[in-house]
Amino acid sequence: MSEAQKPDFDARALRDAFGAFATGVTVISTSTEEGDHGMTANAFMSVSLDPPLIAISLDRKSRMHEKVRASGRYAVNILAQGMEHVAMHFAGRHNPELANFFVNHHHLPVAPGAVAVFLTEVAQEVEAGDHTLFIGRVLHLERDPKAAPLLFSSGSFHVLSAAGAPS
Ligand SMILES: Cc1cc2nc3c(=O)[nH]c(=O)nc-3n(C[C@H](O)[C@H](O)[C@H](O)COP(=O)(O)O)c2cc1C
Repeated sequence: MSEAQKPDFDARALRDAFGAFATGVTVISTSTEEGDHGMTANAFMSVSLDPPLIAISLDRKSRMHEKVRASGRYAVNILAQGMEHVAMHFAGRHNPELANFFVNHHHLPVAPGAVAVFLTEVAQEVEAGDHTLFIGRVLHLERDPKAAPLLFSSGSFHVLSAAGAPS
């Protein structure tokens, strides 16, 4: 990369600016011969309606990365308000009370109480720097229309409050 193309910010500034984008919170889950595995993630997006595709971005150093490669399948569980402890557990703050948290649906671990769940098979992998984008083809979905999503912004959890419809 030439001198002119070097970024003029450091890693901390980049991380903080990324954090300014308010998101929901998900737990990615999959199952391999070693058992079920979950990982908290907010790098999730809807991609395509037809065919139904979603994408997640996994750190190449995460255990989830190798497990999704091994299984070729993953679920995205959108967490509801009040599930902060679940987000922390699957972000590395182990909570023994959540050791048997998942239930099994369509051969994938699913988070009880999630706002919505997308069960996918991996359709495409895109190497992107220190992460890999896993594009998943949605085979099953579940949704609780009454549950409110948990939010995440600038390193903290938040709850939804209506600000009016877009005009
Ligand atoms: C709110 C939140 C969002 C996160 N989003 C992601 C993400 O999108 N991708 C990712 O690779 N890690 C993300 N992480 C970090 C992982 O959850 C964390 O590194 C986890 O311990 C990795 O688990 P594993 O190595 O056991 O799979 C996030 C953490 C938090 C708290």
